[in-house]
Amino acid sequence: MSNVLFIKANGLPAERSVSVTLYETFLDAYQKSHPEDQVTELNLFEEELPYYDGVMMSGLHKEAGGEPLTEDEKRLADIANGYLDQFLKADKVVMAFPLWNFSIPAQFLTYLFYLNQAGKTFKYTPEGPVGLVHGKKVALLNARGGIYSDGPLESYEMSLNYVKNILSHFGITETEMVVVEGHNARPDQAKDLIQAGRDEAVKLAEQF
Ligand SMILES: Cc1cc2nc3c(=O)[nH]c(=O)nc-3n(C[C@H](O)[C@H](O)[C@H](O)COP(=O)(O)O)c2cc1C
Repeated sequence: MSNVLFIKANGLPAERSVSVTLYETFLDAYQKSHPEDQVTELNLFEEELPYYDGVMMSGLHKEAGGEPLTEDEKRLADIANGYLDQFLKADKVVMAFPLWNFSIPAQFLTYLFYLNQAGKTFKYTPEGPVGLVHGKKVALLNARGGIYSDGPLESYEMSLNYVKNILSHFGITETEMVVVEGHNARPDQAKDLIQAGRDEAVKLAEQF
């Protein structure tokens, strides 16, 4: 039995969101094909995710150095560490998120900051950072209204690339992906593009 963490980084309902549509399609197909697995859903838009501010940062730094924390520092460090532990304990992780303003929603960025901790997900070495997370399967479900796979906007794509690079920094280099793109740029093809993404999500979920 695998422990699977499903992360949703969009507060819209599926009928208004392509990434949530992919999420729900994947989740449904996954549960049907892996009924024995333990699934945990994490909707980042329903969580309280305090910014990675000075108090949280000093709390995490002090904790890493074995120094005593103030009450506020401990409260915030515990929040970040709670999400990090949940991520580390999962055998498989599915992340669904949109491209917004060429990037990712702020809630998701904050969450990824919680995970990005030296000594836990990566370590510094003279040759550069080395990832510490191994043996975890990850699937990324992403939607972007424009076309970024090639053409003039390619270098503006800082949503999927950002998440892929952060995961690779953790040592997770083999990520599975389903991307729906161009449905706003080509509205006449939107229905087919989204359906193709859903079909891909079902296939990936069944063999994930
Ligand atoms: C706040 C916001 C910002 C967006 N910024 C971009 C953008 O920079 N480039 C783009 O091609 N589409 C942009 N879009 C369109 C989204 O990429 C598109 O709606 C996609 O389907 C997002 O996933 P979602 O449907 O799950 O929200 C934006 C949409 C929103 C709501």
